[in-house]
Amino acid sequence: MESYKSLFSPDLLKGKVAFITGGSRGGMLKEIARGYLLHGAKGVVLMSRNAEKNGEVAKDLSQYGQCLSEPGDVRKPEDCKRAVANTIKALGQIDILVNGAAGNFLASASALSINGFRTVQEIDTLGTFNVSQAVYNGYMKEHGGVIINISATLHWSGSALQVHSAAAKAAIDSMTKTLAVEWGPNKVRVVGIIPGGIEGTEGFARLSDANAMNDKEKANAAFKDGTQSNKATMEQLGKKTVALQRWGSIYDIANTALYLASPIASYVTGTNVLVDGGAVLLYPNM
Ligand code: HXC
Repeated sequence: MESYKSLFSPDLLKGKVAFITGGSRGGMLKEIARGYLLHGAKGVVLMSRNAEKNGEVAKDLSQYGQCLSEPGDVRKPEDCKRAVANTIKALGQIDILVNGAAGNFLASASALSINGFRTVQEIDTLGTFNVSQAVYNGYMKEHGGVIINISATLHWSGSALQVHSAAAKAAIDSMTKTLAVEWGPNKVRVVGIIPGGIEGTEGFARLSDANAMNDKEKANAAFKDGTQSNKATMEQLGKKTVALQRWGSIYDIANTALYLASPIASYVTGTNVLVDGGAVLLYPNM
């Protein structure tokens, strides 16, 4: 983190307030928050359901600027409305929303429980809708803003073991387009970021551990291990499956989130930016 050099003007987001969901586990969402604070944001608010971890991350980020913790579950509309109202009360505005809250694990479609499928739909799809609606009705409808949805390439092909997450991300991409059209006249841009394999993220750890398939305990352990247990395999694989011959970093995603939130992207809406090092170009045809 210390060696990170900003490529943008330090006042790129001067005076802006960002609301970010799903940042309590660190990874790319925490780095997006840090990037916004380092580029002049007046404040960042984190919303995640684990109040303790959400508070810890917000406290750590406070060294870079004003960062508040608003614990809440994106699946519950009342939590979203409360967190948005508290943010407006504390900071006066929400100019940028990053819908990052998501759940995932490897599971075969035949063994996945109905509740497992539903849970991922509710966190990803319903959560994105709930927070977007709360932020739009609570602030952006009158003042404009930017909504950034974190998506994936899972639904671009038939990603085995990902029926739950791929369906959810397809729905999110659809929402990106619809909301861009409905809310464009009110000066709200709605865009998406599609990360490839990003080292140091929970998704990377969970999805790279094939042993964790259909197993909640192993899936959680994969995250706790970070990427260490699979590092050798992933490094080898990465060289073959990514055009740029490396995995992505959380800074690659934070820089994209800075660009999309800023006036540099003022004519970009209803679309996704793919940040995968060219991985989709090399997906195998089986
Ligand atoms: C099979 C599983 C499972 C697993 C949970 N379930 N983990 N099924 N394999 N590994 C099932 C449970 O058995 C249960 O169904 C249902 O899912 C809900 O589980 P809970 O633990 O009660 O839910 P909850 O506490 O709300 O946790 C949600 C979660 C969890 C999604 C299951 O993984 C989570 O909180 N994840 C948050 C962080 C995360 O996953 N980040 C990665 C995002 S990566 P039953 O039937 O037993 O009741 C990402 C990128 C995608 O999105 C693209 C990458 C390329």
